[in-house]
Amino acid sequence: MKYKVLSKSYTNLVENVREYFLEADTNIWDRRNKIKILLFQKEEITIKSFKIPHIINKIAYTFFRDSKAKKSYENSLKIIDFVPKPIGYAEFFQFGLLHESYFLCEKFNYDFTIREVLVNNHYEDKNTIFQAFAAFTYKLHEKGIEHLDYSPGNILIRKLDNSYEFKIIDVNRMRFKKFTIEERLENFAKLWAKDDDLRSIVNAYVAFIDIDKDRAIDIALKASQKHKDKKNLKKKLKGKEIVD
Ligand SMILES: Nc1ncnc2c1ncn2[C@@H]1O[C@H](COP(=O)(O)OP(=O)(O)OP(=O)(O)O)[C@@H](O)[C@H]1O
Ligand SMILES: [Mg+2]
Repeated sequence: MKYKVLSKSYTNLVENVREYFLEADTNIWDRRNKIKILLFQKEEITIKSFKIPHIINKIAYTFFRDSKAKKSYENSLKIIDFVPKPIGYAEFFQFGLLHESYFLCEKFNYDFTIREVLVNNHYEDKNTIFQAFAAFTYKLHEKGIEHLDYSPGNILIRKLDNSYEFKIIDVNRMRFKKFTIEERLENFAKLWAKDDDLRSIVNAYVAFIDIDKDRAIDIALKASQKHKDKKNLKKKLKGKEIVD
């Protein structure tokens, strides 16, 4: 196996992550990847077990690319203020090829994700949340952080007394770069937001940048529609139901 840990206190946990994962009984996610919560030395920790890759990707992840677990950990270290505290990752090999992989980080006690706010037309405090979200996204962009899967379930929000705290997760696919104004606005495309919601978000975002508001909204709406059309076409080809 290969692994890294944030500090020595987690060595035992990460070295034995397979056993800890099997025994942990709080399941919070069970899809392609699986996530469980574990109480370790009084700390709530999430363990993400990545889907075992098919043979081609096993070869790719072993010889040509970093695994998603490693990427999640290393990207988290680079953007530590924006993510739940990373703890470590572990990779297990079978016949010399990557098999199981795990990423561990602190559990963020969020109250809701941006998804709830986007799907509910009357979400309490919606406008303030959108403003805080625009400010958070601007901070990400200023740091040159592009989350390539900036989708609703990956944006966790905690309500504090007079503000909202944001964390992003699922950070294995990211790019670091200097953003153009267009790229900033296009980064909202994966939210699958209704036009009015996207308008509110962009309205708040343009306070930080130098661009005509209507032009900004136009760029964001076009990018969002393009993304929806692309996804809907894929669904159609697979014979699935279409929304929006
Ligand atoms: N550190 C964390 N703290 C609290 N909740 C978390 C944390 N990490 C993940 N979750 C919860 O698990 C959900 C899925 O996490 P994540 O986005 O990492 O999985 P995923 O890779 O999208 O999964 P899949 O591809 O299988 O759909 C999140 O929307 C959130 O509810
Ligand atoms: Mg996700």
